[in-house]
Amino acid sequence: MPEEILLDIKGLNVWYRVYGGYLKVVHNLSLQVYRGERVGLVGEAGCGKTTTMKAILRILPESVAHIPRGEIIFRGRDVLKMNRAELQKLRSRGIAMIFQDPTSALNPVFTVGEQLEDVIRFALPPEERQKKRIHDIAVQALKEVYLPDQERILQSYPVQLSGGMRQRICISMAITTPRELLIADEPGTSLDVTIQDQILRLLRELVEKHGTSIILITHSLGVARQMTDRIYVMYAGSIVEAAPSATLFKEPLHPYTVGLLASVPKISGGGIAEGIPGRIPNYLNPPNGCRFQPRCSLSDDRCLSQSPPILDVGGGHYVACFRYER
Ligand SMILES: Nc1ncnc2c1ncn2[C@@H]1O[C@H](COP(=O)(O)OP(=O)(O)OP(=O)(O)O)[C@@H](O)[C@H]1O
Ligand code: SF4
Ligand SMILES: [Mg+2]
Repeated sequence: MPEEILLDIKGLNVWYRVYGGYLKVVHNLSLQVYRGERVGLVGEAGCGKTTTMKAILRILPESVAHIPRGEIIFRGRDVLKMNRAELQKLRSRGIAMIFQDPTSALNPVFTVGEQLEDVIRFALPPEERQKKRIHDIAVQALKEVYLPDQERILQSYPVQLSGGMRQRICISMAITTPRELLIADEPGTSLDVTIQDQILRLLRELVEKHGTSIILITHSLGVARQMTDRIYVMYAGSIVEAAPSATLFKEPLHPYTVGLLASVPKISGGGIAEGIPGRIPNYLNPPNGCRFQPRCSLSDDRCLSQSPPILDVGGGHYVACFRYER
């Protein structure tokens, strides 16, 4: 495993202010990404994946989102303490994000060229911001994501292009200038499976070519297994298990991970998957102890009142469950 930690999230908490109080969504979350590493983040809808990723880039809605505790250390600096100039540098050169919905990531009133060239301009040092140079980089960026007829695409408005093309444009924006970390939030999920597959292949190729670290958020455990070195499993705002990808599938430990793996539909036969009974807790008033307790058939009294610590079980495998205390 590569040694240098690029991103180190420590004890992050994110709350949303709503009528009646705070939704305490992200809860004491810790996660690391090493340089050049491909990390998967899996967990059911609403567990806080996008919220966590937006916190890394400080793009949560300021009017409602609140971070009461935690650190997000990127290359030795806490993102939560960065000033405007540092944040702009972080977003234009350090970290890029491909959003879950490519349509909302592009502005409908500007052409693709205007938007892509803007991203490039910001990332270049002022002395290199000549019009022709920026345009050439934009054309090259579209070639890299296998979009033909680049001049026409640059002059088009997002609405004039297909969903697959728009997703490729979002990827080209994210990779057009060298970044150290790419966050891909369910890339291509809103597209049909063949396009989704092409998008994932493209991402893998680009990450390998540029040596970029990636956090890949996906609902598909199969995709996570294929595409990543290590996987974090998230439940109700916390990491419940982390392990090298092969280990996680061979030896899942947390009751939630075991349930998640059993929920995968068995295409080759075997009928409907078992699933996990119950639902994610109400974030307005989450359980005091283990957040998985209301759904866990293995819980005991302690799980009701105490949060399990993250336990190191060896081989880079970590689990947050009292059952694995020695
Ligand atoms: N702006 C907001 N205001 C209030 N609550 C929010 C806001 N954004 C997200 N939430 C809530 O935070 C929780 C986590 O949402 P988030 O989008 O981070 O989940 P997710 O894991 O990315 O889900 P999905 O797999 O569906 O994309 C949800 O309960 C959601 O309703
Ligand atoms: S700590 Fe207790 S409730 Fe939580 S997953 Fe483990 S056994 Fe289940
Ligand atoms: Mg999401």
